[in-house]
Amino acid sequence: SSSNQPYRTAYHFQPPKNWINDPNGPMRYKGLYHLFYQYNPKGSVWGNIVWAHSVSKDLVNWIPLDAAIFPSQPSDINGCWSGSATMLPGGKPVILYTGIDPNNHQVQNLAFPKNLSDPFLREWIKSPKNPLMAPTVANKINSTSFRDPTTAWKGKDGYWRVLIGNKVNSVGRAVLYKSKDFVNWVEAKQPLHSAQGTGMWECPDFFPVLNNGPINVGLDTSVDGDHVRHVLKVSLDDKKHDYYLIGTYDASQDVFTPDNGFEDNSQPVLRYDYGKYYASKTIFDDGKNRRVLFGWVNESSSQNDDIKKGWSGIHTIPRSIWLHKSGKQLIQWPVQEIENLRVNPVNWPTRLLKGGELLQVNGITAVQADVEISFQVREFQKAEVLKNWADPQILCGMKGAGVKGGIGPFGLLVLASKDLQESTAVFFRIFRYQNKNLVLMCSDQSRSSLNKENDMTPFGTFVDVDPLHENLSLRTLIDHSVVESFGGEGKACITSRVYPTLAINEKAQLYAFNNGTSSVRITRLSAWSMKKANINGN
Ligand code: FRU
Repeated sequence: SSSNQPYRTAYHFQPPKNWINDPNGPMRYKGLYHLFYQYNPKGSVWGNIVWAHSVSKDLVNWIPLDAAIFPSQPSDINGCWSGSATMLPGGKPVILYTGIDPNNHQVQNLAFPKNLSDPFLREWIKSPKNPLMAPTVANKINSTSFRDPTTAWKGKDGYWRVLIGNKVNSVGRAVLYKSKDFVNWVEAKQPLHSAQGTGMWECPDFFPVLNNGPINVGLDTSVDGDHVRHVLKVSLDDKKHDYYLIGTYDASQDVFTPDNGFEDNSQPVLRYDYGKYYASKTIFDDGKNRRVLFGWVNESSSQNDDIKKGWSGIHTIPRSIWLHKSGKQLIQWPVQEIENLRVNPVNWPTRLLKGGELLQVNGITAVQADVEISFQVREFQKAEVLKNWADPQILCGMKGAGVKGGIGPFGLLVLASKDLQESTAVFFRIFRYQNKNLVLMCSDQSRSSLNKENDMTPFGTFVDVDPLHENLSLRTLIDHSVVESFGGEGKACITSRVYPTLAINEKAQLYAFNNGTSSVRITRLSAWSMKKANINGN
């Protein structure tokens, strides 16, 4: 129950108990969404990995099914690790995944549904030809750094292509394999892309996005042409973050050239999320013509606490993902279906939020809420001057919600206890840097819990919005132990895990605050309580 399990979520994906990590093989089949995930059936720490399986009509409510892929043949006897689904012609789904063989080598396996007329795709058969790709003396692939096949895409030459994450020394690589029949795979002469010093590339994802298209429109993974740019996402094992590159895919040479790569030091490489977020992957949703992103959020609590509570890991709300019209970054927004959980709206008329002011948002279940707030900044002369560029996460650590500023910090205090002994602050602070306004967004959980065993490092990023011309918007999804925030209409995302000891269940409160010297105008505040979703029988 929620009284002895205050950190279980009400509308984020999680199984009833045990450890989970990466989302695997998401797909849409016969009108149902399928989600598989890395799961330990035996406990709340990583191990004994199988593909657990759930299905959904709306990406919000999920029905649990039996594990779909579990160790059963030599090529996966020591574990069934991450992988992806591909739709073959005629609407036939197949799965490529990493198996751990008797020598603990990482190899790639194929599985296909036993019965295509079952919309739940309950049973999966493994190819007798497994493994289809394996490290050998000839290919010199490191057997402990060869995993996580992508969704395959098909070139105009009729060959399927798939990427496998890999490294050679410290060079991260997306190794490319090609096949005519999906069974016999040949390694290409060169990887699709690689970068010095980045370490192991886990869970690569590679997909086209519409250039200058309408918002929230996605493309099937094999689409290519002049109207398309490509995105390569890699999960860097050394950093435990998901980074993405936007660039050009030359299909004739099978190489990807990013606009700004890992080796170009003038621009930091973009991330999907500047908080806790890893091992994500996208699918093309042919039902709603959009691309949807699934991602894993690990705990920030101690392993002992995970064992005590009997579970570890959740997934974020699936996000629509598309290319911003600037072409310089992706935009992410929670899938529209999540809004079906909204009840009891609270709307504020436009009002001023003065420097030093704290306003409680009443009338919602603050522990389980969806909040949208927008700010108009007017007194630009009060911005603090930033002389040298600084890492935004470090700035958020130095200039937390409690550090008074010129313009900001202003934003939300979520999961706050009555006396504010505990609260998580999600906010903006505006700097003057090289004669421009620079917007910092922080998710500061340094005061989120009296239990200091949790990792409470603040997160932060800059948001590419000029508050001179646009309002600054923030949307925050609050769900017991997770705070998922979207700044600048989806330009910057930060996910935090927090474990309040006082601000739990009905004791949690929500506030808008401004700890700057200048006032800002709240041009919108809409907040909703969120209903509990039916997730895996919870
Ligand atoms: C990423 C990852 C993958 C691997 C899986 C194992 O979190 O390490 O590289 O396939 O998890 O569970």
